[in-house]
Amino acid sequence: MVDKLKKVWLDGEFVAWDDAKLPILTHSLHYGLAAFEGIRAYKRAGGETAVFRLRDHIQRLADTCKLIAIQPRFTGRELETACVELLRANGVDEAYLRPIVFVGDDAMGVYAPNNPIRAAIIAWKWGAYLGTGALEKGVRTKVSAWVRHHPSISLAKGKITGQYTNSILAKREAKMAGYDEAILLDHTGYVCEGSGENIFIVKDGVLQTPPTHASILGGITRETILTLAREAGLPVVETMITRDQLYLADEVFFTGTAVEVTPVREVDDRAIGTGQPGPVTRQLQEHYFAIVKGKDPRHPEWRTAV
Ligand SMILES: Cc1ncc(COP(=O)(O)O)c(C=O)c1O
Repeated sequence: MVDKLKKVWLDGEFVAWDDAKLPILTHSLHYGLAAFEGIRAYKRAGGETAVFRLRDHIQRLADTCKLIAIQPRFTGRELETACVELLRANGVDEAYLRPIVFVGDDAMGVYAPNNPIRAAIIAWKWGAYLGTGALEKGVRTKVSAWVRHHPSISLAKGKITGQYTNSILAKREAKMAGYDEAILLDHTGYVCEGSGENIFIVKDGVLQTPPTHASILGGITRETILTLAREAGLPVVETMITRDQLYLADEVFFTGTAVEVTPVREVDDRAIGTGQPGPVTRQLQEHYFAIVKGKDPRHPEWRTAV
């Protein structure tokens, strides 16, 4: 359960958490059309707090709004400022931030172009997304029977609320079968991503991940890891990956704002490599944490001070 903080940002105002109430005919609640983001703010080794890649997340929020043709009332800069001020208003030095741009109440039915476009930002404390021990030991996964979005059916590049029914179905299926997370394939059988994270494999020292034209969200953590890997001199390819390549990989890991860099130790009851997080995963995980909350000063452009 989420522990409530003091304040929520709603349509430009800071309101007490319990006062952030919405009309029952809020359009997005009924039809699943809203753009949202997930962002983390970390306390760094020096004691200061910084939001990681805030500008990139707010840009993706704007891109998602463009994809679903809704016009936010607030500029990207205003939303960035609101994220920082929300953390200050709540007096937290680490948090997960959830901006959401949604369609308010007025007309009902799927065509409601004149309903107000509203926005909220909520912050809360969120630990390891895939549970205790996931970051250290890795997770057990199952390839889902559910298929990732077909490009003619939805817009995988958007972080659109309604698209997450696909993720929820896959995640439930995996959890009910006793696994930690689902891996989704596309309609032709190629590996896409987890229910809420991108995926990488390591084979013979080469890091591989599906390309952005695959049915995946263009993950900001994915891009961070690609950058860090290239800077570390690791060979990297963005390529389609098959299910058997996944089984035969030396290492597999997930990336995402929520999961950070989480090793995958098993896929469909097959141990990945030795069944323990591998050296490349470990190296990139350490590197990632050093950048987001450690002492590594590189990439200051990725951090917004709170
Ligand atoms: C479906 C999906 N893929 C990938 C990701 C990872 O994206 P990011 O690294 O930007 O958090 C997320 C999380 O937002 C997601 O929901």
